[in-house]
Amino acid sequence: MTEVVLLERPAEGVVLLRINRPEARNALNIEVRKLLAKHLAEIGEDTTTRAVVVTGNDKAFAAGADIKEMADVGTIEMLQRGVHKLWRTIAGCPKPVIAAVNGYALGGGCEVAMTCDIIVAGESARFGQPEVKIGIMPGGGGTQRLTRAIGKYKAMKYVLTGDLFTAREAFEMGLVSEVVPDPEVEGRAIDLARQLAVLPPLALQLAKEAVLAGMEAPLSTALALETKSIQILFSSQDQKEGMRAFIEKRKPKFIGH
Ligand code: CAA
Repeated sequence: MTEVVLLERPAEGVVLLRINRPEARNALNIEVRKLLAKHLAEIGEDTTTRAVVVTGNDKAFAAGADIKEMADVGTIEMLQRGVHKLWRTIAGCPKPVIAAVNGYALGGGCEVAMTCDIIVAGESARFGQPEVKIGIMPGGGGTQRLTRAIGKYKAMKYVLTGDLFTAREAFEMGLVSEVVPDPEVEGRAIDLARQLAVLPPLALQLAKEAVLAGMEAPLSTALALETKSIQILFSSQDQKEGMRAFIEKRKPKFIGH
């Protein structure tokens, strides 16, 4: 049986996770969610992996939760599935996670992209939270992450109408980091991951934590966290190496602690 999430190693220090249900536009069934969570938890512990790319195929990054799998489910089963816990493994991954989006990123698919740290989108990619059209609402962070990314009035329009928006609109609203021609999406995401894979992992981890935790905190608390984080980095070998290499006019070699 074909795995619904494929794990590839396209470059040193880089893992690519490919959602692989083309027959269902990469709809996120429980198996996909569990495998994504499992891989990301393992990647978090694996010191040889420095950056992660999450992608789909040319038609869909992911067209949302699997509607067929949840159509007849009741409240108790939804509660027992606890899918929200699986999402935490992406945001909680200590390594940078890049979403490479071609095709549709809808509902839970848009929410997966928004839990990633960087989003590279193809020109014809389409984003949206169309859940209202099937009688529900976003449930994987869409009402919150979209609002924080693009502001209340734009988010409210898309959450309430379920209308889709283009990659270019997403970029202009601040949801997407880069828009590139469709065939270049994966390559560009891997290039970015390769760039991150040679940077000091502790600095990346603490910077990611400071950005994410800071978004939820008052400015003074967020700035205090940032101050403590940079102070911690002065105990790392990589800080000594990075600064020494600069002074000695050579390329640094970061060892990861
Ligand atoms: N769940 C289950 N199956 C899906 C699916 C989904 N989210 N999206 C697409 N599929 C299936 C289709 O049923 C179809 O299967 P069959 O061949 O067996 O009929 C196959 O994938 C291809 O789909 P289409 O023929 O519809 O392909 P298209 O290119 O014409 O349209 C699309 C693509 C615009 C993405 C359309 O499929 C669509 O609107 N999908 C649903 C999008 C959606 O509503 N997402 C939100 C889901 S709810 C959610 O995500 C909330 C949450 O987290 C709880």
